[in-house]
Amino acid sequence: NHVGDWGTQFGMLLAHLMDKYPDYKKTPPPIANLQVFYKESKKRFDEEPEFKKKAYETTVRLQAKEPEMIQAWQLICDISRKEFAEVYQILDINPGLTERGESFYHDRMQTVVADLIERNLLVEEEGRKLIYPTNKSYPPLTIVKSDGGFTYDTSDMAAIRQRVTEEKATRVIYTVDIGQSVHFHSLFDCARIAGYYDPTTTRVEHLSFGVVLGEDKKKFKTRSGDTVKLKDLISEGLERSLQKLKEKERDKVLTEEELKAAQEAVAIGCIKYSDLSHDRNHDYVFSFDRMLDDRGNTAVYLLYALTRIRSIIRNANLPKSVSEIGTEMMLNGSLTLDHPREMKLAKAITNFTDVIVQIVDDLYLHSLCAYLYNLSVVFSEFYDVCYVIEKKDNETKVNLNRVVLCEATARIFETGFYILGIKTVEKM
Ligand SMILES: *[C@@H]1O[C@H](CO)[C@@H](O)[C@H](O)[C@H]1NC(C)=O
Ligand SMILES: *[C@@H]1O[C@H](CO)[C@@H](O)[C@H](O)[C@H]1NC(C)=O
Ligand SMILES: *[C@@H]1O[C@H](CO)[C@@H](O)[C@H](O)[C@H]1NC(C)=O
Ligand SMILES: *[C@@H]1O[C@H](CO)[C@@H](O)[C@H](O)[C@H]1NC(C)=O
Ligand SMILES: *[C@@H]1O[C@H](CO)[C@@H](O)[C@H](O)[C@H]1NC(C)=O
Repeated sequence: NHVGDWGTQFGMLLAHLMDKYPDYKKTPPPIANLQVFYKESKKRFDEEPEFKKKAYETTVRLQAKEPEMIQAWQLICDISRKEFAEVYQILDINPGLTERGESFYHDRMQTVVADLIERNLLVEEEGRKLIYPTNKSYPPLTIVKSDGGFTYDTSDMAAIRQRVTEEKATRVIYTVDIGQSVHFHSLFDCARIAGYYDPTTTRVEHLSFGVVLGEDKKKFKTRSGDTVKLKDLISEGLERSLQKLKEKERDKVLTEEELKAAQEAVAIGCIKYSDLSHDRNHDYVFSFDRMLDDRGNTAVYLLYALTRIRSIIRNANLPKSVSEIGTEMMLNGSLTLDHPREMKLAKAITNFTDVIVQIVDDLYLHSLCAYLYNLSVVFSEFYDVCYVIEKKDNETKVNLNRVVLCEATARIFETGFYILGIKTVEKM
């Protein structure tokens, strides 16, 4: 988690903090929204030459690790951690993330620069110290600026070295937008030249992604032209999913708790799924109407499909768990696939392994989504003609092999959703 940048932006924030809340050390400043606070300081930075000067000085003092500056900086970091934590909790993101902000690499950057100079890997051009990749279509990295300062290239070189030598990483995945792909080509090549990783034992890759567009196909913005905040998006998702469930009169069937669980699963699930179900390198249009549609390749559709399968299994009213029954049938040779649709479904289920092996390699999660959607289609074809529970006269016959197929399908969905970070519900 990248908490704790400490470039000029932080100099601005700290200078503004000291002006606005001179008592900040004793009384924690009531900054609820760091974005607003940042905007204020940026405005001053652009408009007040005195403040600009102070911001630069503050940056220098911070990077020189003056205790007072470090303390103020920690305060700002804590506020941003708190804001992150709220969103992480809603999105069910592991709270045990490791923090690696820019400051973490401060000393390591100096080591890297000394190392590259000593090994004669830098060339000097107009006072800057550069390292060139082998492929000349990519730009060089600027390791030291003409004023002696470092750049993001320097911290990236320090970071890749730290990850391989200290963290012993064998695979490093950079999740950064596709606009940075040229930079990562240069970085990976230069790091290889410097011997900071060995491509035969360590895999480094750029997991690139496109941008989210508004319904007007332009960059996603609020009506007033601001960046859309994830928190606001989630609130809107929650409202809309509840509305959708009420339209379907689910509030009359579900308990209050079940309704709330369904509302959250649908809202968060639909936002995550619509992002993950697109080829990550392509831009996509963010549309609640589209993602809350209960037809087509959407989280809502698939979550419904899963709850339906789970309810078929419940209705079979079996005396034992499906696992036990399935195992017994496998052992006594009665787990047969006679109908062509049973066979087709069984084959579709076994494709899962290939899909997983593939996404672990290429990190294109949308193929998992496409697979789950295909599986749901194959399941519907199966269920349309293969009765799981048959009622003839007064007799109820349960086709056990089909219940086992239902269970296997449900588990593939559950595992798939788990990998995509989507919560499932028993009822919705
Ligand atoms: C250098 O990079 C360009 C752009 O990606 C690529 O087309 C070209 O094949 C590369 N050249 C070599 C020698 O790898
Ligand atoms: C095989 O096991 C299943 C599940 O327990 C059972 O219903 C079935 O009667 C068994 N079939 C035979 C031939 O033993
Ligand atoms: C899903 O089904 C379509 C159409 O049958 C097929 O082209 C595609 O390869 C399938 N995708 C996956 C991931 O199974
Ligand atoms: C399973 O794989 C086969 C062969 O690649 C493909 O034809 C079929 O569409 C796949 N089914 C699903 C549901 O992915
Ligand atoms: C079905 O059950 C009802 C009442 O239990 C009984 O009157 C009827 O004869 C039964 N029909 C058959 C076909 O078993």
